[in-house]
Amino acid sequence: MAETSSVRITCTAPVNIAIIKYWGKRDEELILPLNSSLSISLHQDQLKSTTTAVASPAFSEDKLWLNGQEKSVQESRLQALLHEVRRRAAKRPLEDVQREEEVVESVNSEHRLAPPSWHVHISSKNNFPTGAGLASSASGYACLAFTLAQLFGVRGELSGIARRGSGSACRSMYGGVVRWTHGEQADGADSIAVQVIPESYWPELRVFILVVSDLQKAVSSSEGMRRSVATSRLLQHRATVLVPELLRKAEAAVKAHDFPAFSQLAMCDSNQLHAICLDTHPPIFYLNDTSRQIMRLVHAYNQACAEIRAGYTFDAGPNAFVLTTARDASKLLGLIAHFFPPQTSNSKRYIRGLPLTTDPPSLE
Ligand code: ADP
Ligand code: DP6
Ligand code: CO
Repeated sequence: MAETSSVRITCTAPVNIAIIKYWGKRDEELILPLNSSLSISLHQDQLKSTTTAVASPAFSEDKLWLNGQEKSVQESRLQALLHEVRRRAAKRPLEDVQREEEVVESVNSEHRLAPPSWHVHISSKNNFPTGAGLASSASGYACLAFTLAQLFGVRGELSGIARRGSGSACRSMYGGVVRWTHGEQADGADSIAVQVIPESYWPELRVFILVVSDLQKAVSSSEGMRRSVATSRLLQHRATVLVPELLRKAEAAVKAHDFPAFSQLAMCDSNQLHAICLDTHPPIFYLNDTSRQIMRLVHAYNQACAEIRAGYTFDAGPNAFVLTTARDASKLLGLIAHFFPPQTSNSKRYIRGLPLTTDPPSLE
């Protein structure tokens, strides 16, 4: 093999907004959830991760840079994800690998795959705040899984690879409305994401992403849910009794284009998650005063309309996803801009609104 040859690939992946949230694991190592969850993937014109991976026989170790800063690849989730991609790559038919290795030797070839034994240098960037409750772990690890799968020629169902990095990441492997089924098998083989409703199904749906704070949260999602599993009895009830019904209703509401029902379920589920955070010991406070003011504005708007025309949902952070439809989008955005005017550039508090369409990961 030519010493100078290397293979490089760049891919992007979307964030997803959980409508029925994942909160709690039954297996920390394999990242298997206590409950199934449902989300919508955002369009990549908006929030996305972009990952470039280079594989070369000249590299002596794997390396990763996140937003320009080197991060240890010894971290167990990165190790698990890298190991899973290489394990699957190694199972490619031998003839395939040989043919690909021949192609790899020709440096200028269009179609090149790296053998799984090569080390990788990875650079990943998010075009939005990392670790602030805007699902950076979802787009980040989905992007990593997708990029490495392209690089090493891994085909088939890839959400189980992304899940090893972060649970929510498995849902970012598809566009549209996506369900992550908790699964039954001990090895997690059936704990994968499936697209339940295609990208183009509900074009009138809109989401505004209101960035209240771009600071990294004090308690990561992983740590927060670990603490809730250990201490919250509400969480046990939610996972086993409440979520199955919420999921059924939310999927039916999307299928029926029933915005009031969909939005109501999203708000209830979000409030339930944050109630569980309060029921956790010591309690976790992801929402702040601005988050609560946004919630009040949405309820006041619905009251004025005498109908549910807007909704909200918050992941593990203070930043809001405001849901609405095309009919109400400009009026609602006007109200948001009025009550939450953009702050000066050196302030950490600002509000930004973006419309929603949906998208799967892709080659750049
Ligand atoms: P968020 O609400 O942003 O998903 P989490 O606490 O779930 O916050 O996860 C944040 C962590 O996800 C980061 O500290 C980092 O370890 C990881 N992460 C975020 N973006 C990327 C990325 N593009 N590539 C690899 N890892 C990432
Ligand atoms: C509130 O997927 O970030 O956003 O699996 O530990 O990486 P790990 O956690 P993560 O948790 C997401 C929690 C949530 C709800 C959701 O996205 O479903
Ligand atoms: Co996350």
